[in-house]
Amino acid sequence: PTTFDLYGEHQSGIVTPVQDRLHFAAFDVLTDDRESLVALLQAWTVAAAEMMAGRPAGPDISSYNAPPDDTGEAIGLPSSRLTITFGFGRSLFDDRFGLADRLPEALVELPHFPGDNLDPARSDGDLCVQACADDPQVAVHAVRNLARIGFGTVGVRWSQLGFGKTSTTTRDEQTPRNLMGFKDGTMNLKSDEQSDLDEHVWVEPSDDRDAWLAGGSYLVARRINMTIEIWDRQTLQSQEGDIGRTKAEGAPLSGGTEHDDPDFELAGRDGPLIDPASHVALAHPTANNGVRLLRRGYNFVDGSTEIGRLDAGLFFLAYVTDPRSHYIPMQTQLASKDRLQEYLQHTGSALFAIPGGIAPGEHVGQALFA
Ligand code: HEM
Repeated sequence: PTTFDLYGEHQSGIVTPVQDRLHFAAFDVLTDDRESLVALLQAWTVAAAEMMAGRPAGPDISSYNAPPDDTGEAIGLPSSRLTITFGFGRSLFDDRFGLADRLPEALVELPHFPGDNLDPARSDGDLCVQACADDPQVAVHAVRNLARIGFGTVGVRWSQLGFGKTSTTTRDEQTPRNLMGFKDGTMNLKSDEQSDLDEHVWVEPSDDRDAWLAGGSYLVARRINMTIEIWDRQTLQSQEGDIGRTKAEGAPLSGGTEHDDPDFELAGRDGPLIDPASHVALAHPTANNGVRLLRRGYNFVDGSTEIGRLDAGLFFLAYVTDPRSHYIPMQTQLASKDRLQEYLQHTGSALFAIPGGIAPGEHVGQALFA
């Protein structure tokens, strides 16, 4: 399809085939008034449905006596498979809105991981909006109009542009590549793996605190900088050893082609063909209690630093059923053992609860405010 529907069992933008471009924004709510927050979520839901259908964000774009209801830069462009996904951060559940007893236990404060160098100005937030589209102008237009609609009620805390998706959720596409030049998303959870999605992505509510999150998920967002110039001076053998896969084909170093299972036992003269400290060995389900993630990240380049290095890396996005089982242990392991870690620095971090699907006539997260 060329257009996706905002309404459905789950929010769009999770198992939806990954689009090429991203504009992700975290917002802080500026008011203490619960009704204003609910009114904003209503207005955002309506505008998101319009924009995803390829229409302007609001009805009135030609009155001379008021600012237009749409900023205009997407007029004439196709919807470009736009999806808009909303999430709620832990800080939304403080005393301001009477939501403290609905804070899901899994919406934790992520611990400090070895090697983290987090910038508070690029972390956390009360609300998030993930806009994905094949055209960056369409994704930016979506975030810009939601921010405009929220003026006075919310303010953008940080935002991130991404290009060149680093994962797929469908099988019919060629696996894209990250900025280290490797195929990324080979073993990603795919949209047709229904029972694995139920087990690893969708929330199974367990009590009154997270009942409102049925059909939802948790989104881990990490801005991961790469020391690209240093990586680019490593031998091909060293790069492949760090990942555990070949660069050209993306095949496991134990042999075969891209989609063959890696064999972590297979040894050559110098030991296992796939280094146990490689990224794939440490991220694979066999090393993580069977855990799988639905990764949906994007490459980013935010210009250059003052010493002329690219400010670039991977904006990691993963949808999981529970970050306590599905992100924290894996990241703890990667941060201390992964050979890749030498070239990485996590510079932003956020965790959001992603409400379930939206029914026509309702607004996103309606069950939380019921
Ligand atoms: C797999 C790169 C960060 C979890 C892979 C693969 C590559 C890669 C090239 C192999 C292809 C594939 O199966 O998709 C990177 C880079 C990262 C990064 C460049 C940082 C800039 C992370 C982080 C996590 C993670 C932070 C989770 C905490 C995984 C998982 C797999 C994977 C679960 C699949 C492993 C498997 O099932 O075999 N990554 N990754 N990655 N990565 Fe990462």
